[in-house]
Amino acid sequence: MSTTAGVQPIHELAPYKSLSNNELSSRINAVRRQLGSKLLILGHHYQQDEVIAHSDLRGDSYQLSQMAADSSDCRTIVFCGVHFMAETADILANRPEKVESRNGERVTVILPDMAAGCSMADMAAIEQVEAAWEEMGEVLDTERIIPVTYINSAASLKAFCGRHGGIVCTSSNAKAVLEWAFAKGDRVLFFPDQHLGRNTSLGMGITNDQMPVWDPFALELGGNTEEQLLSSKVILWKGHCSVHQMFRPEHVTQFREKYPGIQILVHPECPQEVFELADVSGSTGKIIQTVRNAASGTKWAIGTELHLVNRLKQEHPEQEIHFLSPIVCMCATMYRIDLAHLCWSLENLRDGHVVNHIDVDPDVAQWSLVTLQRMLDVK
Ligand code: 13P
Ligand code: SF4
Repeated sequence: MSTTAGVQPIHELAPYKSLSNNELSSRINAVRRQLGSKLLILGHHYQQDEVIAHSDLRGDSYQLSQMAADSSDCRTIVFCGVHFMAETADILANRPEKVESRNGERVTVILPDMAAGCSMADMAAIEQVEAAWEEMGEVLDTERIIPVTYINSAASLKAFCGRHGGIVCTSSNAKAVLEWAFAKGDRVLFFPDQHLGRNTSLGMGITNDQMPVWDPFALELGGNTEEQLLSSKVILWKGHCSVHQMFRPEHVTQFREKYPGIQILVHPECPQEVFELADVSGSTGKIIQTVRNAASGTKWAIGTELHLVNRLKQEHPEQEIHFLSPIVCMCATMYRIDLAHLCWSLENLRDGHVVNHIDVDPDVAQWSLVTLQRMLDVK
């Protein structure tokens, strides 16, 4: 696998796996020093501590999209997160006016481990959404349905929304995005996360009987009657996050009994029964901000990914922080990004090899950008 004279041969991944974290860290730091501001490492809050320690910027999905959109000096973004986030970074960092301002140079986006996907995003495939849209059209006027995709989705679904007058949302702006959508149409098709769609819509006065769930594996009409679809306001896709699905209402009850005065803080991907029992809910960014702003001695049980909750515990010894489940709920795909993959991708980059390049198809990127820009414009 060696390349032309003067260029180092490509580094294989295997040897990196036997290196210690100290060794990997010092090699990562060496590449970071060499590449300087041409390299931007972005890290999502669910990343492991040792990976987060190497990120230049960290954030929730919305903040990371903004960071990619605003990136200026950098020519490579190494994305420590999951696949849909890296796709979004590629689309936003390479929008036409940005490429023009760099005299035609594109930003290369790298995902250190291509297996870092999102099981929720995988629950809505573009073929399924297109088939559902067509079938819905037999009962409803699809011109009046606004498709809204959670950012946790493949770029092809964002492009679908772009082509059909729809929009993207994140966990931090879902309500504002749904308001935008209702100003444009009569009803919304929300995918892939039924819980974020339901929790947000309930907060806007939409009732459960106005929110049928579309099961892409059902034989007809997503498992609904024509009447259910005709009286719908929001059609929820049958998808969920396997991590947040693990939090149960009985966990909330147990914590309240055992720790009087405890506050329950959850991500809106949790099921309705948990979400409704919580004191505060919001994106990972909001969860962090809420704990930061709380008084010393505040007790929390937090329902989101384990690595973030553990980091909050370490960063806030003045508060009492618990994980809202007796079961370990960690995001196995976020966890795939480790120092070995990060070091391997960075040393290859330094030596002239782009590994794990995220390069969204131009047509998909163009239509995805339409929806992402609509989202960024919603205040
Ligand atoms: P945030 O946008 O809140 O960071 O959520 C991302 C995610 O994948 C939550 O499961
Ligand atoms: Fe996807 Fe859930 Fe992991 Fe977030 S926590 S990346 S929604 S699987």
